[in-house]
Amino acid sequence: MHPDQWRDRWKQNRIGFHEPTVNPYLCRYLPEFNLNQGDTIFLPLCGKAHDIAWLAQQGFQVVGIELSEIAIVSFFSEHDLTYQQSESERFILRKSGNISLIQGDYFDLQRQDLSACKMVYDRASLIAIDAANRGRYCTHMLSIIPQITDQLLITLDYDQAQMKGPPYAVSTAEVGQHYNSEYSINRLEQNDVLDERPRWRDQGLTRLTETVFILNGKKA
Ligand SMILES: C[S@@+](CC[C@H](N)C(=O)[O-])C[C@H]1O[C@@H](n2cnc3c(N)ncnc32)[C@H](O)[C@@H]1O
Repeated sequence: MHPDQWRDRWKQNRIGFHEPTVNPYLCRYLPEFNLNQGDTIFLPLCGKAHDIAWLAQQGFQVVGIELSEIAIVSFFSEHDLTYQQSESERFILRKSGNISLIQGDYFDLQRQDLSACKMVYDRASLIAIDAANRGRYCTHMLSIIPQITDQLLITLDYDQAQMKGPPYAVSTAEVGQHYNSEYSINRLEQNDVLDERPRWRDQGLTRLTETVFILNGKKA
């Protein structure tokens, strides 16, 4: 989707992807990353996920990037947080305590922006990118995060012929195509979630699986 289409979705409040609570897989698997207090976690395409606030409450530095001003400003106001705002050539940065939300295009991020990153949490982000651009998304990820930055990745898979997306269908095989060279890919869980999302059955889906991966960076 074009950036304006995402911004329009936020304007029209068409944000079915936004979860009402903290993601349970994040709570379950965060300990696997053996992070220290103060470590930086990067959330690409972060929306206004409650996960941002939860991670900050656990004592981590949280850095998210998001196209939509509405998403970012709503996040701070819904969590009763005041923020400081600054602007650079590429981005508008809003910061409150250990939360830094960057308003701008993920593809404009540079390595220097994420030099402190110790973990990537990708929920509904890779799967928000269409097939033509997913390779570019992953190549860009590898170019902006420090080497051997582990990732928690949550994907959805279904028959792409049955629904246009987003979210787009991303198979385990495709995750491997993008990330095998740099990561050991460990599938932690795979769940059939169609019953939990009946509106997608109504749209014609006959199968919907959610998969949780830990991507462990290979040493050079
Ligand atoms: C499917 S939502 C997922 C949001 C969040 N990860 C969550 O779990 O709620 C994808 C988000 O990415 C944002 N987005 C899409 N393309 C982007 C880009 N190139 N750079 C930054 N944000 C982008 C959209 O505005 C949208 O809020």
